[in-house]
Parts: sequence; structure tokens; C-alpha cells
Amino acid sequence: MAAMAMEPAAVRDRPTGQELTADFDARIAAHQRIEPRDWMPEGYRSTLVRQIAQHAHSEIIGMQPEGDWLTRAPSLRRKAILLAKVQDEAGHGLYLYAAAETLGVDRADLTQRLIEGRQKYSSIFNYPTLTFADVGVIGWLVDGAAICNQVPLCRSSFGPYARAMVRVCKEESFHQRQGYELLLQMMAGTPAQRTMVQDAVDRWWWPSLMMFGPPDADSPNTRQSMAWGIKRDTNDELRQKFVDMSVPQAVALGVTLPDPDLAWNAERGHHDFGAVDWAEFKRVVSGGGQCNAERVSRRRAAHEEGAWVREAAAAYAAKHQGTGQGDDR
Ligand SMILES: [Fe+2]
Ligand SMILES: [Fe+2]
Repeated sequence: MAAMAMEPAAVRDRPTGQELTADFDARIAAHQRIEPRDWMPEGYRSTLVRQIAQHAHSEIIGMQPEGDWLTRAPSLRRKAILLAKVQDEAGHGLYLYAAAETLGVDRADLTQRLIEGRQKYSSIFNYPTLTFADVGVIGWLVDGAAICNQVPLCRSSFGPYARAMVRVCKEESFHQRQGYELLLQMMAGTPAQRTMVQDAVDRWWWPSLMMFGPPDADSPNTRQSMAWGIKRDTNDELRQKFVDMSVPQAVALGVTLPDPDLAWNAERGHHDFGAVDWAEFKRVVSGGGQCNAERVSRRRAAHEEGAWVREAAAAYAAKHQGTGQGDDR
């Protein structure tokens, strides 16, 4: 009886929904990680599935705009760097699909939802890459914005997501540096090269600010996601951090950020900046961008062309299981 008395109530009886919720809330409040086998509220699970799937899709679709320049890189060095970078993005997608699968969803189903347009990916990848300067600006600004978004996710409450982010962030920092280094080199080049860089900055600056999502006032899910420890900062906080970080980098590079309202505000200790065109964001994220149809149709074609690989892998796995020791299937 003495041993029984030491056991918590949850071991003696089946815990009630209330007890499970209280235990979950206490773990979140104590900044403990939630792992796949732990009980979690359905809303927490479905929010994570949606967020991780969209993140995974963004990594995979994000290979396309830069992948377009692999065969046209201006030197072997640039080609090797770009190949490594695009390949990293495929890896990020795989870590994230694997993290989503720990929540009981199937990667094949998530891919199906992407190619049928039922799940979204970051709107940034629906803009075209017009010159090789775009490769540099994507590394500097788009991967830079991704870092701002993802570093706090290393402390996300869901274990597999947070652990995937640690490695992803290390690789993103290489992506950002390779982009900035490419731009430094181009800015030290000919007037035509400098014009290419400025043109790319003009086209990518505003879409990069949109990567943080709608303003806090129009982001109804933010409060709950922060309460659950899935998100650690609001969209507007992250956007401000990105602007403050990018301004001195733009000065060092010698480019102008295309925003006449951009100015240091000594009182706030931050840069003020102009209004983001949220109508454009809504249009692009819901399918009206320049490249939405092309991105999804290419992804669908790649998936269909890869069907034989999946079939062969499944057949091999089935054969292997049939002969495995101690496996009676
Ligand atoms: Fe990535
Ligand atoms: Fe990246």
C-alpha cells in the first residue's frame, strides 16, 4: 500500500481530459518539450501539422526559382555553391515531412494536398528569378528572413520540429552568406552588374517582408500559437527585426532599399518603414502570383515522374520484410 500511495493519480486511474489538459499546460508553462507519444490537444496537433506541412512544402517548392539558374551559373564555383544550396532545401523539406509524420500524418498525403492546391506554401516562391543577381538577393533577403523566422522555432514546444530547426538554421546561415558574398562580388563589378543587383533588390524587398505573414492585428492564430509555445514571436516583431538587421547590410553593400519611408526612429530604437501591400500578398498566396501555376505543375510532374521510384522502393521493402528474421509476414 505504501508503494501505491507514492504513485500519482494518473497511474492509478485513467486520467481525465481535464487532468491531461492541466498536465499539458503545466509542461508548456515550464518550457518542457512535447514529444510525439505525449498527449496533446487536437488543436495543438492540427496547428502543428498545418504549419510544418506548409514549411516543408515551401522548402521543396523553394528549390525551383533558384534551380532555374543551375545550368546557367556564371562559373563552376557559383554552380557548386548553388547546387549545394538547392540540395540543402530538399533536405530541409525531408526533415520537416518526417517531423510532420510523427504527428500521425502521411507524407504522401501531404504531397497530394500540395499538388492539388489544398495546402499552401510561402508566397515568396511565386515570384520569378530574372537574373543571376536574384540568386544572391534570395540568399541575402529570403534566406535571411527564413533565419529570422526559424531561429525562434528552435525553441518551439514540439520536440521533433524544434530539433529539425536547429540543423536547418545552421544551413540557412550558409545560404544567407553565400548570397551576400555573391552580391558583394557583383557590386564590386561593372555598372551593369550593380544595376542588376539593385533591380533584384527592388523586386524582392517587399515580398521578403511579406514572408513574416499578415500584421498581428489580422493574424488570429498567432495568440494561440504563442500560448502553446509553437511560435515565440509575433509576425510584426519578426518583421521589425528583419528590417533592422537588413538596413546596415544594404548600406555595406551599397544598394538602396525601395522604401521612401524607411528611417531610423531613435525614440523606438527601430527603423520605421512603409506599408506592405497586403492586397498583393493575398492575391499571390491564393494563386494569383506570376509563377503559382508553373510551380505547382512542375511539382506535380516531378511527383508523377518519380512514381516508379516509389513503387520500386515499396516492392523492395516488401520483399526485404518477407525474408527478415523474426518477421512472419
Ligand atoms: Fe531551407
Ligand atoms: Fe535556405
